[in-house]
Amino acid sequence: MADDLRVDRMTEKQAREELARLAELLGEANAAYHRDDAPVMSDAEYDRLRQRNAAIEAAFPALKRADSPSEQVGAAPAEGFGKISHSERMLSLGNAFEADEVREFDARVRRYLNLGPDAALDYTAEPKIDGLSLSLRYEEGRFVQAATRGDGQVGENVTANARTIGDIPDRIEGAPDILEVRGEVYMSHADFEALNARQAERGDKTFANPRNAAAGSLRQLDAEITRARPLRFFAYAWGALSEPLAETQMGAIERLSELGFVTNDLTRLCDGAEEMLAHYETIEQMRATLGYDIDGVVYKVNALALQARLGYRSTTPRWAIAHKFPAELAWTRLEAIDIQVGRTGALSPVARLSPVTVGGVVVSNATLHNEDYIAGRAASGEAIRGGKDIRVGDWVQVYRAGDVIPKIADVDLERRPEDAEPYRFPETCPECGSEAVREEGDAVRRCTGGLICPAQAVEKLRHFVSRAAFDIEGLGAKQVEQFFADGWIAEPADIFTLESRFGSGMKQLKNREGWGEKSAENLFAAIEARREVALSRLLYSLGIRHLGEVAAQDLARHYQSWEALVEAVDLARPAAQAHRAGEEAAEAERAAAAAEGRGARVSEARARARSERDVPEDAQAAWDDLVAVDGIGPVLALSLSEALANPEERAAIDRLVGKLARIVPPEARAEDSPVAGKTVVFTGTLEKMTRDEAKARAEALGAKVSGSVSSKTDLVVAGPGAGSKAKKARDLGIEMIDEDAWLALIGDA
Ligand code: IVH
Repeated sequence: MADDLRVDRMTEKQAREELARLAELLGEANAAYHRDDAPVMSDAEYDRLRQRNAAIEAAFPALKRADSPSEQVGAAPAEGFGKISHSERMLSLGNAFEADEVREFDARVRRYLNLGPDAALDYTAEPKIDGLSLSLRYEEGRFVQAATRGDGQVGENVTANARTIGDIPDRIEGAPDILEVRGEVYMSHADFEALNARQAERGDKTFANPRNAAAGSLRQLDAEITRARPLRFFAYAWGALSEPLAETQMGAIERLSELGFVTNDLTRLCDGAEEMLAHYETIEQMRATLGYDIDGVVYKVNALALQARLGYRSTTPRWAIAHKFPAELAWTRLEAIDIQVGRTGALSPVARLSPVTVGGVVVSNATLHNEDYIAGRAASGEAIRGGKDIRVGDWVQVYRAGDVIPKIADVDLERRPEDAEPYRFPETCPECGSEAVREEGDAVRRCTGGLICPAQAVEKLRHFVSRAAFDIEGLGAKQVEQFFADGWIAEPADIFTLESRFGSGMKQLKNREGWGEKSAENLFAAIEARREVALSRLLYSLGIRHLGEVAAQDLARHYQSWEALVEAVDLARPAAQAHRAGEEAAEAERAAAAAEGRGARVSEARARARSERDVPEDAQAAWDDLVAVDGIGPVLALSLSEALANPEERAAIDRLVGKLARIVPPEARAEDSPVAGKTVVFTGTLEKMTRDEAKARAEALGAKVSGSVSSKTDLVVAGPGAGSKAKKARDLGIEMIDEDAWLALIGDA
């Protein structure tokens, strides 16, 4: 764990800065977990950050942010599903980690209710299911609607999917006219393993853990996919009701069970904190044999009248708390450090461990992140683990919380073998021997071998056939790896010549385990079909660093054709090179200034300007246009430019493009808009909107917005102060209008 500054020794400035950092970190973690089903940190780390945030807020109440993470639950709903406003908010729970925090919870409840420490006070204690919460609405006994939690106020409408879940009854008898049942959707261990085995067999994505599998399965746009996934549901709470279910929590749970819902049979009544803690122990001991994931125990005040008196504070009830299980830790020996090479050439160190059981799972690998991490430094240069480095032969503490890849939490220096040497991170690629370099500001060292590096080639192929890229049915990661190992394909273009090279005989493939005549034929048909591909998929498939799915779509929308994009990037190259040289010169200035203990602002800017002189005007215009595309910055533009300038990579891309029949431009999003497909330039001052707003609006209407006027420009929108661009437009005879005329044209006046 990081060595945090003690809250009571913080200055206001430090507190403000850390609250900002925590708001950002937790915001990202929330979105990753709740919206994208792809957690970026362990639950334990998440809880730690939230606690830290709360501690700082308690010490500096005036600094609490408007977007404070302590006021937020979950994340806004994802696109793709209809939205449902919860008639009653779906809440989160406060957390306790230690027995004393549970005693404190009990004491708080008693104080609030004015009950003495010895007065009888019943709580329910039940497992905290590690799934995702769901709210089911029944009207007159019929199931009418299901919604995910979303951000607690608005969730996603997953009614069609929920209908396919066996534990969710379609009709119930004897229920209140309006009944919202809340509970947890989850997947059992056995079902999870069988699902992953099926997925792997088909070359489909496997899930990291049952929770992700449950979330991914519930949130399928096609309910038939959900039907094929073995989801289950435990009911443990309720929302809107036309009449009460019972007088107590326990009574309500029993009533839900009578109505036909599955409730958890480890729910017990406990009088006071010590009984709750005893039941916690019992549940913790049963954890490994339950057959489904739980991450703690939830305690709730039993009497509903007392729950009503206790009420809520912002997003959590005062009458309940989640007692979480601790992160799971174990000590073991680090046997070796292996280096894996990824698609972009990143060298990732992996710890090979003497196998050890951590929370019921045998762990033999852990991530080591990068060379700084091994050396005991964070990216910022600060010490981590108190500055202790990690060496082969060390005893290390392995940490596994929830689903995340195991990590190393600590090193035991007392048990370090005398001959253990500091780890030397390789400076050449272990796969191809090319030089591995680490650029300024990058935590990662990368192989420079490009496609001659077999590890990069295979990763690039895996990426090429992935879902958002070429997504060729029957050709998943497993198959491309096999074909690569057999020497059948070395690069994407080879996929398109498989049939002509093997087709006639087809024997090699047909006789291969897992392939028959039919599946071979299907594969070739699927490959054939992909000779027509969307421009955005093609761009994404190239596996260029920083070029993700969204950026690929942005580029496709802006340039509309492969040729136009390549032409623009090639034209902009002198400016890209100058930008790179400028960055390097500025970096050198920074280093020199730091060594001399002076500021570098001015000399840095000068160094940049020097390098960026003498760039031809059309190259500069093309570069400016590229970096002005929404979502594309200089880092991505540079990476794209350099990929297309690398002779081997360019040749491989050209070979691939040569195999394609048609690269389909994105559909203009508003075909009937008067500006769809037009190239528009905004110049001068806009008075009714910002430049960014104007650009976004125009692009939403299917226009391409460019930063410079050329013979390809269709329309110039000129505000006051328009100078050289307006002149150039006049010289070229291009239509020019003012802002009001533009608004009238697009119907926004
Ligand atoms: S009660 C107002 N009971 O944990 C309180 N929640 O961290 C409503 N959860 O959003 C929640 N098992 O998704 C409750 N037995 C249980 C639970 C449970 C799992 C989840 C639920 C909630 C989250 C809070």
